[in-house]
Amino acid sequence: MEIRLWREIVSPYELAVKELTTKFNHLIHEYQEKNQYSPIESVSGRVKSISSILEKMQRKQIPFERMEEEVEDIAGIRIICQFVEDIETVAQIVANRSDMIIKSEKDYIKNMKPSGYRSYHLIIYYTVETMDGPRKIQAELQIRTMAMNFWATIEHSLQYKYKTHIPEHITSRLSNAADAIIALDKEMSTVRSEIMDAQISSQTQLNLVMEILNNIENLYKLSNKREVVKIQDEFYRIYAMNDMTQLERFSKQLDIIAEGYRAQAIDSDLS
Ligand code: GTP
Ligand code: MG
Repeated sequence: MEIRLWREIVSPYELAVKELTTKFNHLIHEYQEKNQYSPIESVSGRVKSISSILEKMQRKQIPFERMEEEVEDIAGIRIICQFVEDIETVAQIVANRSDMIIKSEKDYIKNMKPSGYRSYHLIIYYTVETMDGPRKIQAELQIRTMAMNFWATIEHSLQYKYKTHIPEHITSRLSNAADAIIALDKEMSTVRSEIMDAQISSQTQLNLVMEILNNIENLYKLSNKREVVKIQDEFYRIYAMNDMTQLERFSKQLDIIAEGYRAQAIDSDLS
């Protein structure tokens, strides 16, 4: 097989991985901007290496002409969630989107693999625009919790080390570890709402501080510098109090001051 040909085959998958990771990352961003809890913690993606594609085709007796149809994970996206409950939310988000069409689903959370592997998989159809027009390709979305990902990452590296013949004393340890992961995810779920509340309020504070600092910076352009320095000192004083209500009140006052300066600026523009 010519190397150039492989590049051409793989190129739309590279684009798909870039686009999909960008889209899921942007979702996280949207939740953060709205001070809402994001069901997605992080996203990563990869294009399957040529040697892994060849290995899988050989293992599954896939002829070359059937490669793009039958090797469904040439483009792979991994979505990490904090809690098991979030996985369903993410699956629903994917199902509701018009740019991702679900082909099939594998629920290794309800049906854990004998190895102890747990994860929720979706194969989707996704269209990328290329030089030669639209190309509908497949991508595998692996949706799992941080804990499940921890287990899968460790187990995968052991598979790599032992070339699938992991010694019995290690597989039994991995199986125990898988049970511990189930218990950990369950335990985390029981404090989910507290954790979510804490994360939302820290995000809300972060956004508020950013808004205040932006306002101060804008004021600095418009108004008396010495006054802005005073306002900034006042901000540091209030910030140090570590009290959200005080910070919110300060932000509202700042809005009013900024509004006043804007009105003045417009007046002087008109006169
Ligand atoms: P592969 O040929 O391994 O891709 O399997 P498949 O196409 O028959 O699909 P399957 O649903 O079994 O696995 C899809 C992907 O899930 C794999 O490529 C791995 O990334 C992951 N996976 C499946 N089983 C395991 C496992 O036991 N351990 C780990 N670490 N990952 C697994
Ligand atoms: Mg795979």
